[in-house]
Formats: sequence, structure tokens, C-alpha cells
Amino acid sequence: MVEAYIFDDRDEVDFREPHNSGEAVTLEYLAELGVIYKFLENQDEVDSLAAARDYKNRDVVNISPLTFQNDEDALLAKLNVFYQEHIHEDEEIRYCLDGEGYFDIRDSRLDRWVRVKVTNGDLLIVPAGIYHRFTLTTQNYIKAMRLFK
Ligand code: LAC
Ligand code: NI
Repeated sequence: MVEAYIFDDRDEVDFREPHNSGEAVTLEYLAELGVIYKFLENQDEVDSLAAARDYKNRDVVNISPLTFQNDEDALLAKLNVFYQEHIHEDEEIRYCLDGEGYFDIRDSRLDRWVRVKVTNGDLLIVPAGIYHRFTLTTQNYIKAMRLFK
């Protein structure tokens, strides 16, 4: 079961730490924010979903120290970019293939972050126009597919 909870806002702690405030968030709550969560077993299921929703493009990103030849500063620079809150102009899908990551979604109604921990098989449909950001966990590794309309 995917883990989702309210982010604790302790910004002095590394963003790759859990930052779990102890307040859990349900999938219904995520849906209220416009984010759909699914667990998909395999690539065929992802392909079907992508076709049904008219997705045309995709890529696979691999983020870990190895991606940056073990240059920790280069990894952190990239993570700092991913951690800038931003919106997309179109709906996008994120599908975790390996490793794990934190996808933070802004709950603008209450001015707080909802943190979703994604691992292998977790998929998020992120609508256009919602503020979000991404980071690794302390495991420091994710392989994820990004799907674009
Ligand atoms: C994403 C994160 C990096 O869109 O914002 O995948
Ligand atoms: Ni994004």
C-alpha cells in the first residue's frame, strides 16, 4: 500500500528524510487534490492506461549517485531542481520502476504539502496546474517512467 501523509515542514532536515508529520492521507484525499494513484503490475498495464488517456511521449529517468559519477554535489544540484515547486501545463503520469522517491503535492486549501512515497509499481496521474515537487528518499535511487500527453 502506498504511503501518503502530511509533510512536517521541518525544512532544516534533509528533504530525503521522511518528514512524516504522523497525519496520514488517504487515496480519497489525494483524489480531492486531483491526483489519481494506481498500483500497476507491469508495463502492459501502463501502456493501456497511457493509450486510454491519449499519452504520446515518455522517457525513463534514473537518478542516483551513479548517474552523476558519484559526484554528490552534482546529484544535489539536480535534486534541488526537482525540489522546486512547479506546475505542468498538461496532465502527466509518473510510474516508479525501481528504487523509491517522494512526490510532494501542495494542498492549497490548507497551505501544506502531502507527501507520497512511491516504490516499484506505484503510478500517479498528476493533473495540469497543481503545484508539486519531487525528491529521492535516503535510499538515493529511483528509476521512473515519465509519460507526457
Ligand atoms: C516531476 C517532478 C520532478 O514532474 O516535478 O516529475
Ligand atoms: Ni513536475
